Amino acid sequence: MKPDSKPKMILSVAGGKGGVGKSIFSVSLGTKLAMDGHSVALVDLDLGAANLHTYLGIIKKTPTIADFILKKVPSLKDILVETSQDNMKIISGAEFVPGMANPAHWMKLKIMRHVKALSADYIIIDLGAGVHFNTLDFFSMSDRGIVVTAPEPGAVMNAYSFIKGALFRRLQHIFKNHPEIGPVIDAETKKTGGEGGLSLEMLTEQIRTLSPDMLPLIEEIENEFCPALVVNRISEGHKHVLVRNLIALCRDKLGVSIEHVGNLPDNPEISGYLLKIPAFLTSWSGKSYLEAVKNISDKILTRTSLTANAEIKTDFSDEDVEKIIKLMETLDESIFSGSSRSASKLRMYFKPREVVDLLISRGVTHEAFYSR
Ligand SMILES: Nc1ncnc2c1ncn2[C@@H]1O[C@H](COP(=O)(O)OP(=O)(O)O)[C@@H](O)[C@H]1O
Ligand SMILES: [Mg+2]
Repeated sequence: MKPDSKPKMILSVAGGKGGVGKSIFSVSLGTKLAMDGHSVALVDLDLGAANLHTYLGIIKKTPTIADFILKKVPSLKDILVETSQDNMKIISGAEFVPGMANPAHWMKLKIMRHVKALSADYIIIDLGAGVHFNTLDFFSMSDRGIVVTAPEPGAVMNAYSFIKGALFRRLQHIFKNHPEIGPVIDAETKKTGGEGGLSLEMLTEQIRTLSPDMLPLIEEIENEFCPALVVNRISEGHKHVLVRNLIALCRDKLGVSIEHVGNLPDNPEISGYLLKIPAFLTSWSGKSYLEAVKNISDKILTRTSLTANAEIKTDFSDEDVEKIIKLMETLDESIFSGSSRSASKLRMYFKPREVVDLLISRGVTHEAFYSR
């Protein structure tokens, strides 16, 4: 399967709690980008309670992600459906299908491979509530994760649990076969709140003594793991005390910096437009919501993230190749698990673009991969 064209950015929208406005925001963000002339693919990966399509007024039966998971269609692009919004297509989520809400890890990787191959400037993945492994994995496989919350204690605590879960899951995947660091992470994951707890700082300290060769990798994770935070149903510019607490908690307890990229206003008139969000955004009553979405998307898109806007190089200088080989020497073999290639094989038959693609798909990034 060859990508039709490389997507510019894959954004995923999650948040821990249900009903906080994730799906409406996903559709609105897609609509705003499509209105600006970008091609957009919305993908509903809420495998338990899909409803993204309803916000676009698609209520008749269309193909869904279940057709792909159940192998009725060979490719995800076969189930991309036009929407009422120019430039915006959707892959609808499925009604509950037994067994489908919890696909095997290889199926998640397959879904993500197909998502990445979709031809669109922006791909927006709408995720379900909760800290299910599916949600955490899809979140961590995208270029930028956006966490939506409401300024209420329950929603904010769920957002914190989600961010913590996403970080743990990422670390667990990366270090799962590492003889010293893997067990440290596993032990921390089994603790039930309270004392201690895994943070990037604590892990850096452990790695410094246990396996200093892994320090560059943990530094990469630290730079790259920076969820964007959107607070719904609150006026622009306002930083609610609970939101300040959430940001401080992530920084102090996890060593993670989250970026508060903006708020969305509470707008009771949304309820009259629940089957036509694009029409809401262009209506007089949707003006302030659309303006807020614009500000948020400007912030998200201008962030000069290594994994986002930058294009993967096609020509690698000798210096780049040397840097990449050095980086590979610091990586744990588990990064290569599930692929037919091992680090030593890759070193022997070094094809920069192949190596770089594999590393990126495993969550590793380095400035030498990108041209900017
Ligand atoms: N900014 C808002 N102002 C008013 N109501 C909102 C707003 N955002 C969401 N809602 C309400 O919350 C409900 C749930 O939104 P939805 O996007 O489906 O949440 P989630 O995807 O997080 O479960 C919607 O039906 C809508 O009535
Ligand atoms: Mg939803």
